[in-house]
Amino acid sequence: MTNERIHNDEMKVNPSQLDAWDGHYHWHAFTQMAEYEPLVIERAEGVWLFDVHGNRYLDGVSSLWCNLHGHQHPKIKAAIRDQLDRVAHNTSLGMGNSTTTLLAKRLAEITPGNLEHVFFASDGSSAVESALKMAFQYWRQCDTPRPEKTKYLALGNAYHGDTLGSASVGGIARFHAMFSPLLFEVIRLPSPDPRRLPADQPTENAAEYYLSQLEQVLADRHEEIAAMVLEPLVQGAAGMIFHPPGYLAGVRELTRKYDVLLITDEIVTGFGRLGTMFACDQEQVVPDFLCLGKSITGGYLPLSAAITNADIYAAFLGTSASGRSFMHGHTYAGNPLAAAAALATLEILEEEKTLERLAPQCEQLAQILATLSAHPHVAETRQKGMLAAVELTPGEPQSRFPEDQRIGYQVCREALRHEVWLRPLGDVLVIMPPLSTSTEELKFLGDALLQSIDVVTREFAKDQAAVHSQ
Ligand SMILES: Cc1ncc(COP(=O)(O)O)c(C=O)c1O
Repeated sequence: MTNERIHNDEMKVNPSQLDAWDGHYHWHAFTQMAEYEPLVIERAEGVWLFDVHGNRYLDGVSSLWCNLHGHQHPKIKAAIRDQLDRVAHNTSLGMGNSTTTLLAKRLAEITPGNLEHVFFASDGSSAVESALKMAFQYWRQCDTPRPEKTKYLALGNAYHGDTLGSASVGGIARFHAMFSPLLFEVIRLPSPDPRRLPADQPTENAAEYYLSQLEQVLADRHEEIAAMVLEPLVQGAAGMIFHPPGYLAGVRELTRKYDVLLITDEIVTGFGRLGTMFACDQEQVVPDFLCLGKSITGGYLPLSAAITNADIYAAFLGTSASGRSFMHGHTYAGNPLAAAAALATLEILEEEKTLERLAPQCEQLAQILATLSAHPHVAETRQKGMLAAVELTPGEPQSRFPEDQRIGYQVCREALRHEVWLRPLGDVLVIMPPLSTSTEELKFLGDALLQSIDVVTREFAKDQAAVHSQ
């Protein structure tokens, strides 16, 4: 019996009671509570989650895109325990912590180019929020101030978090339309989705086409734009939209040419998800701000960071009376327990050569996608490294299931019966398991997904046939 099990037994709460309390007392994020079917996790081991009833589920989306080396990794647990024996938390306002300091130095070493000043926060949204505000303040305090630069440039279908600033630069109506009266105005470019090119544009020109749109906007409005923000290579929450190769490098070139700062949001793509440490590494891009979160602690504790270069940092230096300080911060920013987990996560990446040894898993994932794409209800599959998306269709590749049928959600519900936990983005199924997932476990996930798609789409077809025969 595990310690966790004993703990629960001691509390004498039966599992069904926990489900009921979870459904009542715990208001869950991004969840329609009137329809919520409780799933309460009690413990985890490797890539497996175990619920209070003792059922197991393969953690197919890394506990929402953040677990890297699996659950209960001994090294991460030991690092957190060791830190706990020293200090659990001290503020980062006007003081430091030895573990957090070491992490800041390590991040400066591994992030692209000249990024070296690390501003910690706790969630991805707050890292983006920090970078947006820093970019704004920079233009007021740099050597040749440009206070007219107050606007941001962002992509359609972008997602950068849920605080009002990060939501303003986000572009997914389903998440943020409700709050639009509260959000600030942003200059928006279409998402550079090669599948949405006008009919007269060949796919191989996709990067060029979308970059020419960017250049037009920059040429017209660069004087008022403080920064451009984007998710590099892949727009996650939009449904895993993959940008055309060369787009990111082109964005860097143009933002530099027009004196617009570049904020890359690597909260999802950072720490090896796409097969390289950072997405920016794939196109040798060095942004002005790099935002990190999620996997930074291996998915163990909340931590995020906005990292910038010496030039930008210098604009914030002066006397206390100068008003140049960055007057922004979060109580638990750079928490030492989280920093210890992050350092251990980075050490594991290095010692276990996680990325160098990822090829068999990526290959296995590719094989799963090849099988899935032969299914009549799969319109398209996409993959980069250990991140994949499976787009469902009722028939023709371009057609979509009626939204109210929630087919993506139904497939994921069905997958639970096959011991796999996934969370869809509409009718796009996301596959993003921990990098530690073995090829056998991946195969298990692929088989479960195929069966689940089969069951749910067959049921849908049956219902449709019944409607039409009436
Ligand atoms: C690209 C991106 N940026 C920012 C965020 C926000 O991170 P958090 O939920 O930790 O605030 C997310 C969350 O999914 C994300 O996908």
